[in-house]
Amino acid sequence: MLQIMYISSSTASCAPVDVAKILTVSRHNNARDAITGLLYADGRRFLQVLEGPTDAVERAFVRIAADSRHRAVVVLSRRAIEAREFGEWAMSHRTPGIDGDALIEQISERLETASPNIRATFEGFAKIRRAA
Ligand SMILES: Cc1cc2nc3c(=O)[nH]c(=O)nc-3n(C[C@H](O)[C@H](O)[C@H](O)COP(=O)(O)O)c2cc1C
Repeated sequence: MLQIMYISSSTASCAPVDVAKILTVSRHNNARDAITGLLYADGRRFLQVLEGPTDAVERAFVRIAADSRHRAVVVLSRRAIEAREFGEWAMSHRTPGIDGDALIEQISERLETASPNIRATFEGFAKIRRAA
């Protein structure tokens, strides 16, 4: 299996309503393709982990990287994994009014089974974004 983690910046054309659309399509496609992972979206940045069968993850990432709703896609980690680190497709979407600590806690719960490297990246990212 393959696991890819990347960060990106949302483009001006990516409104909150688009994140809802991204999620709907992602949940459908990822369930079909046996892809799991986690998406952090706060309206300005995305941080996503995708994991599953190598071919399926490669194909999904090619589609995602070409999506004009985000830009500056940077792969932080790409590695073969023996077992999934994220048991289910999950998503935390930060919207104004949602407490940053609650969000980080929510993400941390999802990350319990993730490798230290992945966990540290997500937690650091969420803290930085909360302060931004
Ligand atoms: C930040 C971001 C994350 C995305 N994540 C996924 C994903 O996990 N799975 C997926 O199939 N599409 C994802 N998409 C959407 C794809 O770019 C693409 O629009 C979609 O896969 C096309 O699906 P369709 O061929 O069924 O229309 C994401 C898009 C963005 C901008």
